[in-house]
Amino acid sequence: MLIEIFLLIVVVSIALSIVYSTIRFGISPMPSSKKAYQAMVTLIDETGSGTIIDLGSGWGNFVIPIAKRYPQRQIVGYEMSLLPCFTSTLIKHALGLKNLTLYRQNFLNANLSTASVLVCYLFPEAMDKIKNKLLLEKPGVEFLISNNFALPSWESEKVIHLNDFYKSPVYLYKINS
Ligand SMILES: C[S@@+](CC[C@H](N)C(=O)[O-])C[C@H]1O[C@@H](n2cnc3c(N)ncnc32)[C@H](O)[C@@H]1O
Repeated sequence: MLIEIFLLIVVVSIALSIVYSTIRFGISPMPSSKKAYQAMVTLIDETGSGTIIDLGSGWGNFVIPIAKRYPQRQIVGYEMSLLPCFTSTLIKHALGLKNLTLYRQNFLNANLSTASVLVCYLFPEAMDKIKNKLLLEKPGVEFLISNNFALPSWESEKVIHLNDFYKSPVYLYKINS
């Protein structure tokens, strides 16, 4: 009985923590779909060998396979939500991924100047803020790849439409190159 109560408290705490961060940051830590991941990898393959930063790395579903796939590239994830950030950090250490760095930090306050490629799966308001940050700080980022949400009034270099019900777009933007 005590174990059941303990497990219930753990499950409810996890659920509350996810609900809290979803309300606070405007999006849940839901990972990109397999199809979107494949499309993002296709686009990343065109971006050379520089550092890739995931803006909102969630549970690590994107940064962990990407760090394995590109061992010669530095991969960075910024994630504000406590539990997803903690979990992905545990997995990173368990797998010994030396080229992956994870920060529990708001990417809007981060220095993105080391990035060659920014990757994100966010929401329209966040895309607006990213655009303003890029215009204001001019961090020298070469590419931005966005799952589903466009960078407002910025012309994309390429769009892959997924083979799903919505023909969801994955955008590649040239920022500086
Ligand atoms: C939809 S998930 C995407 C996860 C992963 N990038 C993927 O594609 O599988 C978006 C994540 O962004 C995080 N997030 C939203 N705004 C953020 C911010 N300003 N700084 C850091 N993380 C943020 C959310 O907590 C959420 O976990």
